[in-house]
Amino acid sequence: MTASEGEWYLSDLANGIERSRILSIATQVKKMKAEGQEVTAFTVGDFSPEEFEVPPSFTNELAVAVNQNQTNYPPAAGIPELRESLSDWMEYKYGLNVGSDGIVVGSGARPVLFASFKLFLEPGEALAHGVPAWNNHYYVHLNSAKDIAIEGNSESRFLPTAEGVKERISEIRVLILNSPLNPTGTCFTAEELGAICDVILAENHKRRKNGKKPVMLVYDQVYSTMTAQGIEHVHPVQVRPDMFEFTITLDAISKSLTATGLRLGWMALPPKLAAPVIALIGHMGSWPARPIQQAAAATYSDHSKLESYFEDLDSRISERMEVLFTRLSKMKESGLPVDFIPPQGGIYLSTQFNLFGALGVNTNEEIRLWLLEEVGIAVIPFQAFGLEDESGWFRISIGAVSVNEVSDAMNRLELALQSIQ
Ligand SMILES: Cc1ncc(COP(=O)(O)O)c(C=O)c1O
Repeated sequence: MTASEGEWYLSDLANGIERSRILSIATQVKKMKAEGQEVTAFTVGDFSPEEFEVPPSFTNELAVAVNQNQTNYPPAAGIPELRESLSDWMEYKYGLNVGSDGIVVGSGARPVLFASFKLFLEPGEALAHGVPAWNNHYYVHLNSAKDIAIEGNSESRFLPTAEGVKERISEIRVLILNSPLNPTGTCFTAEELGAICDVILAENHKRRKNGKKPVMLVYDQVYSTMTAQGIEHVHPVQVRPDMFEFTITLDAISKSLTATGLRLGWMALPPKLAAPVIALIGHMGSWPARPIQQAAAATYSDHSKLESYFEDLDSRISERMEVLFTRLSKMKESGLPVDFIPPQGGIYLSTQFNLFGALGVNTNEEIRLWLLEEVGIAVIPFQAFGLEDESGWFRISIGAVSVNEVSDAMNRLELALQSIQ
């Protein structure tokens, strides 16, 4: 049955749900690989377990918990020792003290993200987000929200700016920010984030007086522990302590422990707002398995071991970024039509393939197909992250590739670009 045949049966919400554009491209790449074609998959925001393994101490703890028959329902908010160790970690690392009552866990960042929108948004209220950014357009639809897209550009490292937020602030109910940003690999500075917080605080000061509900900030920092040399991750409460009551923080082991398939994320929020989220997570049944929670509780309680794991992970990410950075810089210097934004965090690099003239094409999609079919390089256009400009910008993800694969891909790219000059 095709989607349109099913339309008569379904709600408008269900009929309007869009499939992930990233996953459609990833499926195309998998098929090409299965047919024996050489393709470097710079596509998914996932980690290949061969290149980036979950810390062995985590999997050991997991096995212990399974062998101890930890198989019954966990409490909906998370097991107490996990809420405790995550709350200590958030205070130690980001100066955010919500206490264990302000931590609610879910099976990955997605359920807690979904729950955080449900906490505040009525249908028709505005959900504001940067563009390009990961998946927000789907959440606008799922919440029947009004869409406010705040566009970044290469000068702002594709991050939304305080000026952009200020222009629309009177309409916004929820603003979601993500740093390090997927898809761009760029991070807010304390000054940039502080300026956005000032806009929110000034607006909420007015709203408190006139009885209007406040602007809430959902701060998605799932890549917070992955930063390039010299870059510090910043949290809203660190730069503006008054943001505490307006900030919901999201994090997950999916990225921090490269454990995308193990499904554990959490929300840190003012404890007085926690009860409805706990009920919602309970009704959705989206709590992580008890053994996963037990392993995460142990892992997050040992701060120094965790910090050395993050240091090692950063160095493995940076090995790959270094090759991309060096090779793309060289191509750019020699006059080839490529550009990029220096990587600051996460596993992504914003890369521009300005091949419109050389290939005689008008769209990013045509460039993407040329890169895929002629060069064997699979990348995701910024259109998949809501930026509709046909300006040749793409996301490169290094989570599923070895250093040698990156190197080989850059060799092929250089030759292919020279051949079309
Ligand atoms: C910015 C951001 N937030 C949240 C998620 C979802 O994380 P999870 O796999 O834990 O649901 C992703 C996944 O790619 C992401 O990039």
